[in-house]
Order: sequence, then C-alpha cells, then structure tokens
Amino acid sequence: MNQNQKNNKPDGRVMAMQSQGLFGEINIPGDKSISHRCVILSSLAVGESKITGILNSSDISCTINAMRSLGSDIHLQPDMCTINGIGIGSLAEPEKPLDFGNSGTAARLIMGLVTSHPISSVFIGDESLSKRPMRRVVDPLLGFGAEFDLRDSEFLPVTIKGSNLPIPISYDMPIPSAQVKSAILFAGLNTPGVTSIFEKQKTRDHTEKLLDFYGYNVDIKESAEGTKISIVGQQELRPVNINIPGDPSSAAYPAIAGLVCKNSNVTIKNVLDNPTRDGLYKSLIEMGANIEFLNERSNAGEKVHDILVKSSSLKAIEICAKRAPSMIDDYPALAVAASVAEGISIFRGLSELRVKESDRLAGIKYFLEINGVEASISNDDLIIKGNPSGIKGGGLVKTSLDHRIAMSSLILGLVSDNPVYIDDSETINTSFPGFIDLMNKLGARLEILELDSDS
Ligand code: S3P
Repeated sequence: MNQNQKNNKPDGRVMAMQSQGLFGEINIPGDKSISHRCVILSSLAVGESKITGILNSSDISCTINAMRSLGSDIHLQPDMCTINGIGIGSLAEPEKPLDFGNSGTAARLIMGLVTSHPISSVFIGDESLSKRPMRRVVDPLLGFGAEFDLRDSEFLPVTIKGSNLPIPISYDMPIPSAQVKSAILFAGLNTPGVTSIFEKQKTRDHTEKLLDFYGYNVDIKESAEGTKISIVGQQELRPVNINIPGDPSSAAYPAIAGLVCKNSNVTIKNVLDNPTRDGLYKSLIEMGANIEFLNERSNAGEKVHDILVKSSSLKAIEICAKRAPSMIDDYPALAVAASVAEGISIFRGLSELRVKESDRLAGIKYFLEINGVEASISNDDLIIKGNPSGIKGGGLVKTSLDHRIAMSSLILGLVSDNPVYIDDSETINTSFPGFIDLMNKLGARLEILELDSDS
C-alpha cells in the first residue's frame, strides 16, 4: 500500500481542492493554432523570421521537429524563435519518420505541405493520434496527385509520396474543419494554378490571415451560402516579425475558474480575439457571466484584448450546432460552468468532439459523472444538469492523453466539496505548460501528488 492509499487519497497525480478568491493578472501561453502555422509559414518564407510569444509546448515541438527534418533552420530560445526559411518548393526528404506525438493539427497541416513536394515521408504519432481519422484530409489531398498508404486506410502511420507535378483542386468541405482547409491551402502553396476551398460553416481563419501577413495573396469571397478561399500557387512568402497572442482556448480555464470560484477577480492579458474562435465567450455572457473585454488592439492581422472575469451566478444555456466550430475545443471547460449553472444546459451538434485527442463527448460525460454531476448524451447532443449549490467531486479522472479533459477536471475540483484527481498531469503540456503554477498563483489549490516508488 502506498502513502496516498494510506491517507485515503486515490492515486491521482494532481489533486484539485475547493478554492475561493482567485485574484490577479496573468499572461497565458501563445495561441496553439497560430504557433503551428507560424513555424510552417516561416519555414517556407525566403529569409529570417522572428517569432515571440510562441507556445512552448509538446505539440509545437512536434511541428518544429518535423519542419527541421524537412530542411528548415529553426532556433528556439526562451524568448524568441528564429527561423531561416527555405522557400516554397524546397522541402528536403526526411531521413526518419516524422513523429507528431499528440498533435492532430501538426500531422494534418504538414501532410498537406508534403503532398505537393516530390519527397517521400512517413508520419507517426502517439496512441491517441494513431486512433484519429486521417481520411478527411487524405481524400482531398489525393486530388493533388500524391500517394498515401495509411494503416487500415484511415490511420497513422502513413507513408506519403508527394507529387512531382501537383494538380490544383477545388474542394467543397463536407465537414467544418480548419485543419482540412489549412492542409489543402498548404498543398496549394507549391501547386501551379488556383487551389480553392468552399466552406459552408466558417472555421478558424488563421491560415488565411497569416498567409496575407506573410505577403501571400489570398482571395476570399463571402456569400449567403458560405466562404470561398482561393490561392494561386508558387507565390513567395516574405519573412515576418510576429508576436503571437495568448490562446483563447487556454484562457478558458482561468476565466471559467474565476467565474465559478467565489470572490474572484481575474484578468487574463493579451488574448486573441477572433470571431471564428469566440463562441465560448459569447456563450458565457449568455449564461450571465460577468466578463469585460478591455484594451482591444490589433496585432499581426488579428485582434487581441484583455479579459476581466468576476465571480458570477450562471444560468443554463442551450447552444445550437451552428456555433460549434467557433468553440470546438472549449466544450470541456464550458461543461464545468454548466455544472454549477442554474438549470439544464444542452450543447447541440457535437459529433466532431468524438474525433479529438480522445472521444471528448464521452470524456466530458465521464469526468462530470464520476464527480457527481448529472450528464447524458442524446445523439450528438450533451445535456448537463447544473447544481449551483455544490458538486460532490471525489473522482479520479483518467485523462486518456487529453489535455483539455485534464484541465477541465481540475477546474471542476476547485468548486467541488471533495477533491478531484487526475491521473496524468503530463498531458497538460500539450497546450498549456505551467498551467498548475499559473492557476496556483491566482489562488487555486492544485497539488501535484508524489507517488511512492512501490505504487
Ligand atoms: C485546429 C482546428 C480544430 C481544433 C484544433 C486546432 C487548427 O480542429 O479542434 O485544436 O489549428 O486548425 P478541426 O479542424 O478538426 O476542427
């Protein structure tokens, strides 16, 4: 028996205890989507780019390592990432398989990139990434003339033979996915002629915005039916100096903690404010959250602001499926807010959550239920019965290599009568290195548990 069992504590690696009075001003890590794209685009620019505020996490390391293996010269220092780009069309054939770890974004975006270069590569990933569907991206990329050999026709590992003479495609997106859209745009960069995509539902538009920022012409036509994005291949990307703003999906955790913990007042500085990513904040305001957006300003083609949250009494919300793309990563965090809200919340149209780092639809229901919150799934909808008078807690959450389930469980623990435990804090480094220290700096009670060596 180990010490934790002797103390009647489950063997969780991190314990979250009820907390009050979260207070202070914090900066959060750089936006994950923009960080991936900046590493890729700077590697393809002609000349030296300087990036500050880049997310220094395991997901971004995968993109950096892959781009280095493809020939890019990347120097990562604590405060600055300097990249000497090699120009579009100059990717080198990697000597070893490219390991994408836990990162679906890195794997899918770079899959697009190698599609239109005459090189062979092998893509591998961790247990979670190896279960995630790849046909959604491979099917359109086949149109460029590349060859893909996937495990069971769907999964990593995949061997890719890029096309010698890539052919441009015009693609109607069957699902709303910024990763698929961006993979196609990246394939189009080294493809002569016009590559175009039509999306009925708008997804995050960082690739389009950054292409423009790197001096690459992008044609965007909005209509009542949707958005058509077109690029002419083989233009030149010019190097940039860029400061990456804080990630609104990471800001979600201290923001929701500040709302649900009593007597709190938290400011999160320098957060990306993009209408394709703001569904969570719209939803929180509809739930009655006391949130102010301050110091609105522009940065590298995006807007940023500071977010001030104060403890709030929340009411339940019904969120339509149409809003899902603008908050797709934020449902686990919002589920915590719904757990303490007055009434029954319904989040509709969450089929895409089933193919994230874990089956997140099932994962949310699971981490809520083992902590005493009533939750159910009906088709693709999630239903949560809020209880403003308290959450039982006490559950040990198996995080299944899913950083967002891990962080959301810990936030739930801050408003639970009994501590909530997670089995693996390592997974949080996927998107939010320093999460535990930062939350504790605000006054949260998160404790890393030392396990006995005989456990
Ligand atoms: C991302 C797109 C989204 C999101 C992911 C990051 C991106 O995935 O869930 O965390 O940077 O393009 P989908 O494209 O699968 O919706």
